[in-house]
Amino acid sequence: MHKIGILTSGGDCQGLNAAIRGVAKSLYNEFHDDVEIYGIQNGYYGLIHGDIKKMSKEDFSGILTLGGTILGTSRQPFKMMRVIDDVTGIDKVKNMKANYRKWGLDCLVVLGGNGTHKSANMLSEEGLNVVSLPKTIDNDVWGTDMTFGFQSACDIATNVIDCIHTTATSHGRIFIVEVMGHKVGWLTLHAGIAGGADIILLPEIPYDTEKIAAYLNKREQSGKNFSILAVAEGAISKQEAAMKKKELKALRATETYPSVSYKVAAELREYMSNEIRVTVPGHFQRGGSPCAYDRVLCTRFGAAAARLIKEQNYGNMVGLRNGEIVPVPLSEVAGKLKKIPLDCPLINEAREVGISFGD
Ligand code: F6P
Repeated sequence: MHKIGILTSGGDCQGLNAAIRGVAKSLYNEFHDDVEIYGIQNGYYGLIHGDIKKMSKEDFSGILTLGGTILGTSRQPFKMMRVIDDVTGIDKVKNMKANYRKWGLDCLVVLGGNGTHKSANMLSEEGLNVVSLPKTIDNDVWGTDMTFGFQSACDIATNVIDCIHTTATSHGRIFIVEVMGHKVGWLTLHAGIAGGADIILLPEIPYDTEKIAAYLNKREQSGKNFSILAVAEGAISKQEAAMKKKELKALRATETYPSVSYKVAAELREYMSNEIRVTVPGHFQRGGSPCAYDRVLCTRFGAAAARLIKEQNYGNMVGLRNGEIVPVPLSEVAGKLKKIPLDCPLINEAREVGISFGD
C-alpha cells in the first residue's frame, strides 16, 4: 500500500481543489487503488503538529470547481522553520520529519508558492520524498511559465477594471484599481492590458508621479474625460526604489496610507485637481471558482505529479514550459522569484498601444 500525504500552503487561490482532485484521481488510477491519501491540515502547520487525516476517494469528488482548499492552508514563513519556538520548544523540522515517518508516508505532495517551495526543498534535502505543484495568483514561481490561480485572478481583476470603466466614464474621474502582487506585477500587467488600463504601475518599473500626471493631463487635453490606473500592491516610486532597504522601511513606518493606491492618489493630487477614486478588490481576486484554463492546468499538474510519484522521481515540482508539463528540480526552484523581465515583449507591446508605465 502506498501512502501519500498532501498539503496546501501559503495564500490560497483558485484551483487548489482542482489540483488536489487531479493528484488524487490520478494516484488512484496509477496505483490501481493500492494507495492511501492523507490530508495534512492547514499546510505545514498540520505536518508540524500531526494534524493529519486519512482521506477517502469520495473526498475528492465534486471539488473541481470549488474555490479555496478542502485541506485548509496557513502561512509558515520559511525563515522561521528552523527557529525553535520559544514558548512550546517545538522543533518544526524535527516534528515534520517525525510525523512523515509516524504516518508511514512514501511521499509528500505540496501545493504552494515561493515560500512553500523553499520549505519543500528543505524537506527534500532532509530526506523526505517530495513532489510539488506551483500555485499562486502572482505567477511568480520560478521554473514554470504559469502557476495555477493566476488566470482566474486575472479574470476577476480584469472584470473589476471593466466595471470601473463604466463608472469612470460616467463621472469623468480618474480611478486607481489596486491589483494584488507585492513583489511582482504579472497580475497587474495582464489585468491592466486586458481591462484597457491607461497606466500600469508595477514593482519592476519604478514610477515618477510627475510623468504620470503629465500623461493624465495629455489624455484629458485629447478629449478623454476619464483615466484608469492599474496599480500593483508593490508599486514603488523612483525615489523609493533608489533608497536603501532600511531607509525605505523607516519611510514606510511613517506613512499612514491604507495601501499604495492611496499614496499614488495623494501624490497625484499635488499635480492635479481632477476627482480621483481608489478601488481595492483585495482578496476577492483569490476567491471563487477556478476559470476553465486553471481547471485544465490543475488537472494536468495533478496527473503529472502522480506520474512522478509512480516513477519515484521525487524532489521535483511540476512546471509548465512551452505547453509541456515537465519536472523541475526543487533545488532550482527554491529561493528564486520569477519577476517580469524588463525586456518582456508584453511590456513593449503595451507601450506600443500607448499604455504608460509611469516611467
Ligand atoms: O498569495 C499571493 C498574495 O495574494 C499576493 O498577491 C498578496 O500580496 C498576498 O498574497 C496577500 O497575502 P495575505 O493573504 O497574507 O494577506
